[in-house]
Amino acid sequence: MDFAIRPYVPTDLPDLYKICLLTGDSGADASQLYRDPDLLGHFYAAPYAVHEPDLTFVLTDEEGGCGYVLGCRDSHEFAGWMEAEWLPPLRLKYPLLPADPTSKDAAMIRLIHKGYTPSRWADLYPAHLHIDLLPRAQGRGLGRKLMEVFLGGLREKGAGGVHLGVGRRNAGAVAFYERVGFVRLQEFPWGYEYGLRL
Ligand SMILES: CC(C)(COP(=O)(O)OP(=O)(O)OC[C@H]1O[C@@H](n2cnc3c(N)ncnc32)[C@H](O)[C@@H]1OP(=O)(O)O)[C@@H](O)C(=O)NCCC(=O)NCCS
Repeated sequence: MDFAIRPYVPTDLPDLYKICLLTGDSGADASQLYRDPDLLGHFYAAPYAVHEPDLTFVLTDEEGGCGYVLGCRDSHEFAGWMEAEWLPPLRLKYPLLPADPTSKDAAMIRLIHKGYTPSRWADLYPAHLHIDLLPRAQGRGLGRKLMEVFLGGLREKGAGGVHLGVGRRNAGAVAFYERVGFVRLQEFPWGYEYGLRL
């Protein structure tokens, strides 16, 4: 298969939503867990591509988009933009009292209403990122390449550091982040935060 990494273009947006859902259960396919297939992407993928398209990179092969890395240079600034621009229309579209309050959809809707809160590590490591590859692209060194491209973009923008969160169940991603140079900053009940100074 011929893989390529290229900058995001707006027509990639549906692929970003798809990849986010297909890797959204601790790295595995989450499509059986959500009634609304867009909820994960609304929070964890699309806002980054819309807000910082020049920090969004897409991995493609003959079948189309099969991976991405995306994020923001300044998590505090990103939080302000989420509150001002991105989340208000989603809050109108998804009322806070969903039909089944115990569902995964309801948890995402609550998150949309709660909003994005920057990590306490965002002062030292201002940027943050998400990286997701479909199974057919995994284990070929492409995640490392995507990460190099993203970190290069962050350096160009003058970010001093980058952090990320990873769920405890996602052992593969934990191993990956440690192999590509991230240092564990803190452990939480849900997982870990990692950081890298640039
Ligand atoms: C995690 C992920 C981004 C890694 O990308 P990848 O292309 O599969 O990883 P690479 O092939 O570039 O591997 C880079 C290094 O990490 C290591 N690594 C990657 N996945 C690993 C795994 N599952 N277990 C152990 N080590 C792993 C590789 O051995 C390699 O080490 P080396 O270069 O020192 O030999 C990718 O597998 C993925 O998107 N998974 C599903 C979605 C996900 O979990 N995203 C993260 C959410 S927090």
